Amino acid sequence: MKVAVIGGLGFIGSHIVDSLISDNHEVYIYDNLSNGNIDNKNEKATVFIGDILEISDLNTFFERVKPDLVCHHAAQIDVQTSMKHPKMDASINVMGTINVLDMCVRHHVKRIVYASSAAIYGNPHYLPVDEKHPLNPESFYGLSKAIPESYIRLYARNNHFSYGILRYANVFGPRQKAEGEGGVVAIFSSLMTEGKDCFIYGDGNQTRDFIYVKDIAKANVLALQSDKSFTVNISTNKEITVNELFQIMKQTYDYQKQANYREARTGDIVNSYLSNKEAFDIIGFEPAYSVVEGIKEMADADGQKIS
Ligand SMILES: NC(=O)c1ccc[n+]([C@@H]2O[C@H](COP(=O)([O-])OP(=O)(O)OC[C@H]3O[C@@H](n4cnc5c(N)ncnc54)[C@H](O)[C@@H]3O)[C@@H](O)[C@H]2O)c1
Repeated sequence: MKVAVIGGLGFIGSHIVDSLISDNHEVYIYDNLSNGNIDNKNEKATVFIGDILEISDLNTFFERVKPDLVCHHAAQIDVQTSMKHPKMDASINVMGTINVLDMCVRHHVKRIVYASSAAIYGNPHYLPVDEKHPLNPESFYGLSKAIPESYIRLYARNNHFSYGILRYANVFGPRQKAEGEGGVVAIFSSLMTEGKDCFIYGDGNQTRDFIYVKDIAKANVLALQSDKSFTVNISTNKEITVNELFQIMKQTYDYQKQANYREARTGDIVNSYLSNKEAFDIIGFEPAYSVVEGIKEMADADGQKIS
């Protein structure tokens, strides 16, 4: 199949490209390099540098490639940026997605898979958070990831293509930058490698659902292969505390210092993990990596592991 990965030079998108290529798909990347890295490019993929807000470039890409499937991962991913610049954030995440959907209609794409986020749920009312949980985003980023879901469902219904909406927990792994969602693993990794002090906000007992990027890539391949339309969480269904994460990383990176604690940040979610039952029932998704295994592989891949 011909697959267009929009945002395929970024952290998650580039791992999806690698998985699709090892599954013998023909892969075409569209990315404006605003946060991606050309070094993430798989040598077997074809790259077009362009912006999803530039309709004529996007149209040229779709016209030349004629993709069967579209995997949409381009987004403004920084929560703080979304709070300072909600219009810019919405323009990329909402209007950009509408542009991609228009191209799917115009160029007869069969299916779209969209990267959504746990940020759309806001503060959990119950745990684990399942797909029926109300959507109460606490940030403009959460809002701008939630709104495209409704556009996708309506476009798909009116134009007879299918969709998979994947709501990710906190993703970590090689190629992740220290900013953005799930950045704590990347931040600890770079601070530990440089022997610098690590900070934990609050008492460190807050929990998160950390999922390894290769499991996210696997979920995308399964979602692209399906012909059903669905919205599912992609997660481990397990919570670990930030203190536990710090200890795992401290051991893997042979880091000698203790964590420094800072006052909790207002608005930070206390505990969160997502149910992945629907993803298992619909596409047979199960994560293969534990956090310990993911951290070890990540440290090896980045050439940072000391012990
Ligand atoms: N990292 C996480 O933990 C996480 C969690 C939930 C959801 N997500 C979602 O997954 C997707 C990928 O996230 P990521 O962490 O890999 O981020 P990333 O920034 O590494 O990847 C996004 C890619 O999109 C590109 N891009 C951004 N704006 C663009 C535009 N206007 N036109 C063309 N390309 C553009 C960037 O250059 C980058 O390569 C995003 O949609 C994000 O919202 C990420």
